[in-house]
Amino acid sequence: MDRNMFLKSCGVACVSGAAITALLEGCTSANYYAKTLIAGNKIVIPKTEFEYVDDGQKINRQFVLVRSAKNKYPICVHNNSTGQSIGDYNTAEKITAEQKFADHKSAELSTANTPYTALLMECTHKGCELRVNGEYLVCPCHGSEFTNKGVVQNPPAEKNLRTFIVTADNENIYVEV
Ligand code: FES
Repeated sequence: MDRNMFLKSCGVACVSGAAITALLEGCTSANYYAKTLIAGNKIVIPKTEFEYVDDGQKINRQFVLVRSAKNKYPICVHNNSTGQSIGDYNTAEKITAEQKFADHKSAELSTANTPYTALLMECTHKGCELRVNGEYLVCPCHGSEFTNKGVVQNPPAEKNLRTFIVTADNENIYVEV
């Protein structure tokens, strides 16, 4: 089975109900909702929320989900620094408003100065809630697929995902909503 066929069948499985929960869990990464604070228009995520201990080993999460009162669906905050510990990012990183992207090309630039991206998990085709599958976000409704930077990879969606400005300091990540 090629990759697209797998993702489509995974999507069908994801909407088929509780009876196949085990299959659903097998085709998506574990979703973790981070503990957050609100400061003005920012969601504050402690960097430690990207870490957990398993069998005595510290593991870095690739992504966490956060809820925003302003949005129907969660926001996926992805750590693109695979292979580096969170502590490697000790300098403040900032994406300016000019770096917000509107097309595929600028989308790739938007993460140049920070390892984090924040994406609204709402499919740009017909508004279904996306699921995280490794480095991709996949729509269970009609199979659209997006990168962890929000760039559409597979139709029927044609537009990139909505993104949020992300800043970070030594301790926290700030998502502007
Ligand atoms: S709503 Fe996501 S592909 Fe149609």
